[in-house]
Amino acid sequence: MGPEKFRAIGHTLIDDVADFLARLPKARTASPLLPDQMRSKLGKREMPEKGADIAPILKKFSRLFFEQSTHNGSPRFFGYITSSAAPVGALADLLAAAVNPNVGAWALSPIATEIENESIRWLAQFMGLAGRWDGVLVSGGNMANIVGFFAARKAKAAWDIRAKGVADPESQRLVVYGSAEMHTWIMKATDLSGFGTDAIRWIATDDELRMRPDELRKQIAADRAAGLHPFLVVGTAGTVGTGATDPLPEIAKICKEFDLWFHVDGAYGAPAVALDDASADLKGLRLADSIAIDPHKWLYSSIEAGCLLTRHPDALRDAFAFKPPYYQFDDNEGQEVKNYFEYGPQNTRGFRALKIWLGFQQAGASGYRRMIADDIELAHRLHEFVGKQELLEQGTVALSISTFRFVPADLRRRSRGDKAVTDYLNELNARIATALRLSGGAFVSNAHIEDRYMLRACIVNFRTTLDDVRLLPELIVGIGREIDERIRPKELRGGKR
Ligand SMILES: Cc1ncc(COP(=O)(O)O)c(C=O)c1O
Repeated sequence: MGPEKFRAIGHTLIDDVADFLARLPKARTASPLLPDQMRSKLGKREMPEKGADIAPILKKFSRLFFEQSTHNGSPRFFGYITSSAAPVGALADLLAAAVNPNVGAWALSPIATEIENESIRWLAQFMGLAGRWDGVLVSGGNMANIVGFFAARKAKAAWDIRAKGVADPESQRLVVYGSAEMHTWIMKATDLSGFGTDAIRWIATDDELRMRPDELRKQIAADRAAGLHPFLVVGTAGTVGTGATDPLPEIAKICKEFDLWFHVDGAYGAPAVALDDASADLKGLRLADSIAIDPHKWLYSSIEAGCLLTRHPDALRDAFAFKPPYYQFDDNEGQEVKNYFEYGPQNTRGFRALKIWLGFQQAGASGYRRMIADDIELAHRLHEFVGKQELLEQGTVALSISTFRFVPADLRRRSRGDKAVTDYLNELNARIATALRLSGGAFVSNAHIEDRYMLRACIVNFRTTLDDVRLLPELIVGIGREIDERIRPKELRGGKR
C-alpha cells in the first residue's frame, strides 16, 4: 500500500471511527445475534489465493464490526472490569503500529523504550509509591500478576530455581497464599510454574469478603511446621467479584514477620489509591514488594495494557533475563539502558506504553482521580436506586462494583435457606443477565456471594451518567418480571406476586 492510498483509506477509516464514537452513547450495548447467527452474518470465505483492493473490504468489515460488537465503550456497559477506552488509545495504537518499534530492546526502540520507562514511573507516582520502583508493561492483569509471581519465586527460593525447576524437591514444597476471592490468575501461575494448583492456600474471608489475617497467619505457621516453604502472599486491592480490598497493612506485617514476598493484585483497584479519601487498607498496597495494575481497566486505556511494578529493581531481571549470543544489545557506548526482553516473558514487544503515556497527558493525574471518583460515586448511587426497587435485593458495594439480584415479591421471604428457591433465583438471575445483554439495553455480569448468583455492575466508564445508572434497575425489573412469568416452576408458583 503506497502512502497516498494509505492516506485515502486512513482518512475514511478515521471518519468512520469518529462517527462510531459519536453514536456510542446511544448504540446497543451488545449484538442480539446468537453464535450461529453471528457466524452466518459473517459468512465463510475461503483463504484468498489472490490479493484484492482492501478499501471496500475494510469499509464493509468496519460497518459490521461497529454494528455487531459488544461495546464496552457504551455508557451502559457494566460487565466485568473492562473499561470504556479513551479514544486517544486508538490513535496511539495506530501510530505505534505505523512506526512498529520492537520494545524488546533499546536499540530496536530507543524512543518507545524511554516512553515505557516514563509511563511506568508515572504509574508508580500516580499510586504514591515511594522509592525506586521499576516494572514492565504486559498484556493485562493475568500476565502482570504472573510476572509478579515469577519474580517472587526467584527472589524467595534459596536454591537456583530457574536452573533446577520443580525437579528440585525443595521447589515442590513452595506454597502461596491468597484469599478465597483471589482471581483465577493464581491457578494459571501455579500451573505454569509446575507447582500445581495444590500449592495454593485459599484463605477464608470475613463478612465483607476480605482475607482474614488470623487465618493467614495460622496457615503459614502450619505449613512451616509441616516443612513446606511459604514464599508468597497475594493481597487483592479490589477483588474481581465484589471489589473488596484485603486488609493490606496487616498482610504486609505478616509477610515481614515470616519473610515472604508480598504481592498485591491491584489489576482493578490500584488506581483508586490515588484518591485523597482512599481507605487505609487500600493505601497498604504501598507496602508491597510488587503490584499488578491494569491501565486497561481503571485508567481507560484500550486493550491490552497491564503493568507489573516492583520495589526491587533487580527482581524482574533476575527472574527473566537470559543472554543468548544472538542478542547483543548491551553496547550503548557504556550508557545504561533498559532492554525490556530481560524484564518479562516476551522478547518482541509492542509499544503499549504510548496509549498510557498519551492518556496521562490528556487527562492529567487530576483528570484520572476525578473520573475514578465519579465511577465510585455512580456505583453507590446505583446501590441506592436498587434499594428503592421492591423487586431487587441489594448486595455489596465496594470501589465501583455494586451487586444485587432480582427477587420476585412472593419469594422474598423464602429467598434465604430454601434450596429450591435459591436454585430458582440463581437460574432466574443468570437468565436476566443474558436477556439484558441480548436486548442491547445494558450489560451486567455476575458475582457469587455464598450460594447466591448476584448481578454485578462494575463502573469503570467515564461515559456512564447518572441517567444510565438510574435506568439499569428499571431495565432489570422489566426483564426479570417477564422471565419469571415464563420460567417459574409450578411448585414455586401460587404466592401473591
Ligand atoms: C483483581 C483482578 N485480577 C486480575 C484480573 C485479570 O486481568 P486480565 O483480564 O486483564 O488478564 C482481573 C480481571 O478482571 C481482576 O479483576
